[in-house]
Amino acid sequence: MRHSCNVAVLASGRGSNFKAIAEACRNENFPAVVRLLIVDNPDAGALRLAEEMGIETAIVDCGPKRGSMTPESSEEMYRLATERDIELVCLAGFMRIVKGRLLDEYQGRMINIHPALLPSFKGLQGQKQALDYGVRYSGCSVHFVDPGVDTGPIILQRVVPVHQDDDEESLSARILKEEHKAYPEAVRLFAEGRLRIEGRRVRVLDET
Ligand code: GRF
Repeated sequence: MRHSCNVAVLASGRGSNFKAIAEACRNENFPAVVRLLIVDNPDAGALRLAEEMGIETAIVDCGPKRGSMTPESSEEMYRLATERDIELVCLAGFMRIVKGRLLDEYQGRMINIHPALLPSFKGLQGQKQALDYGVRYSGCSVHFVDPGVDTGPIILQRVVPVHQDDDEESLSARILKEEHKAYPEAVRLFAEGRLRIEGRRVRVLDET
């Protein structure tokens, strides 16, 4: 049997992407398994979802600065990950820019999902930015994490139409449905060893 890729998910909130990944990983033919959920916020809905699913959790205090993390918290997350032989770190609504030891050691093995078609509408409220700009299509992007904000090489994207009567809520819901397909798919491709970063581009190798 093929080796299962050990995954850690980092989240700050609701946790629907964490759930989508963890549920996909429960499928016996899926090449990855979620070993750990790390949150920076004890109120994160993701925490309860993980507990219900019997997945190990950790709460790491990342410091008071919004959107940032202390060097100590990065070290701590790195320690938690390596002690569990984590091979892939998935950011799923983790509201801090990852830096320090965790990024240094996991760059190329850390991915994120963003609710817009990158490189448009990076940063917070990608759905609202798209709506306010007036685009006809938006979607989601799964990408490798680099030191920038939503700037790393793109693994895959899914597109949705923007409707005339959309508001932020309705567009976000349409995008979220696609996020829940895109993220497990990206995890699968990584776990199968099918992603090659070539500069800014990610080559997806054929199934063997
Ligand atoms: C998602 O829209 C994701 O794209 C963004 O944060 C949101 C997290 O939602 N990065 P959830 O916590 O996974 O439900």
